[in-house]
Amino acid sequence: MIDLDGNATNSGSNPVVNNSLDNSGNNALDCPNINPSINPSINPSINPDITYDLVLRQGRAIGVAEFAGQLVDVGIAGGKIVAIAPQLANAGAMEIPVEGQIISPPFVESHIHLDSALTSGEPRWNESGTLFEGIEIWGERKQSLTLEDIKDRAIAALKLQASQGVLFVRSHADVSEPQLLALQGLLEVQAAVKDWITLQLVAFPQDGIYSKPANRELIEEALRLGADVVGGIPHYELTRENGVQSVQRIFALAEQYDKLIDIHCDEIDDDQSRFLEVMVAQAIRTGMGSRVSASHTTAFGSYNNAYAFKLMGFLQRTNINFIANPLINITLQGRTDTYPKRRGVTRVKELWQQGQNVSLGNDCIQDPWYNFGTGSMLDVALMAVHVCQMTGRKEVEACYDMITVNGAKTLSIADYGLGVGKPANLIVLDAIDRFTAIQKRSVAKYVISQGKLISQTTPAQAHFQLS
Ligand code: FE2
Repeated sequence: MIDLDGNATNSGSNPVVNNSLDNSGNNALDCPNINPSINPSINPSINPDITYDLVLRQGRAIGVAEFAGQLVDVGIAGGKIVAIAPQLANAGAMEIPVEGQIISPPFVESHIHLDSALTSGEPRWNESGTLFEGIEIWGERKQSLTLEDIKDRAIAALKLQASQGVLFVRSHADVSEPQLLALQGLLEVQAAVKDWITLQLVAFPQDGIYSKPANRELIEEALRLGADVVGGIPHYELTRENGVQSVQRIFALAEQYDKLIDIHCDEIDDDQSRFLEVMVAQAIRTGMGSRVSASHTTAFGSYNNAYAFKLMGFLQRTNINFIANPLINITLQGRTDTYPKRRGVTRVKELWQQGQNVSLGNDCIQDPWYNFGTGSMLDVALMAVHVCQMTGRKEVEACYDMITVNGAKTLSIADYGLGVGKPANLIVLDAIDRFTAIQKRSVAKYVISQGKLISQTTPAQAHFQLS
């Protein structure tokens, strides 16, 4: 169990997490002494010449085609992967026996709101369970926001995620309030955590760009302050026309400030909410597709097939990224339905089958929209498997890709993945392949960021007392 400060509390049969991050989010670790009781050590049977800072021994490296199906050693030095081979002769200053389990690129959180994370019940609970009551409650909660409040909760949430293998995060920051506190707080967090987690920030106008005159200036100011991505919420603008106008404005701002785009798009069950087509048209006309993400697009699940198939055809003319948030979509959508009750999730399986880049996000960790969530990407993938009916073996593996390599593509992360010369960002999971990682919701036994071991988790063990 991990408390809200990101610290381990060993209760019951929960895994034990040990991380080396102090309360400010700085990496206080001087490898290798995380916890002497479970500290990896040098294997004396190996050549005593120490060549590497760290060697992972005999794991299954995910995404390394050259060694598919083989066990390999991974050598790390100077923060980079410097060798991958069936057996590395020389030793590392630290050695981790992987014992046939998987060495994976880290998880990528494509969509989260760190400014509202860990506020559920404040100042009141969302009794209807709807997106719109959540927006109202957040409107009340943000009246009492302070920089410290935002930073403390964001860092706690990032530690929760890092301990579970997440090393790249895209967070939205609400830029609808006049002081831009959420963005300023998250910009400070971005700098504080940069040695162990990469945080990308979206200037997200939660209340709409055209709902108040001041909001047009606030989103632009957020980009000048350093937000990486332009956000939007066209389906929540006051009129259809304002929604179209907002998408056009977002593309213009992205070009002007050289930013990526990530729009909360059609997050509603209304089959007439059709701002995705506006995004697609803008992407086709500008050629910016690979820099553009459409988040949620839940109405896509409600479109009639004639319209949806036409739109799928248009999508083949661009390469925009899709981000689904299955935990939240299945919770918030379908609330006005009686029966049959819609799932409220975009067409993940069909988009994947067509070759579109789809990634997955948590969206919320214990906030006005969702009282649950621990930041686990494997929980997100497991929900995608269920709600998108992707239960075939290759489909489950695809869901794993949606929380790793596809997310990296969405975030435009350079040098992601396992390969010689790449930054040593990797995780060891308590699983033998991608399928079992989701099946077991494996723990991240070792989390290595930029060549340093930042977190260890010991899988839970049950001790039966049966005679
Ligand atoms: Fe969101």
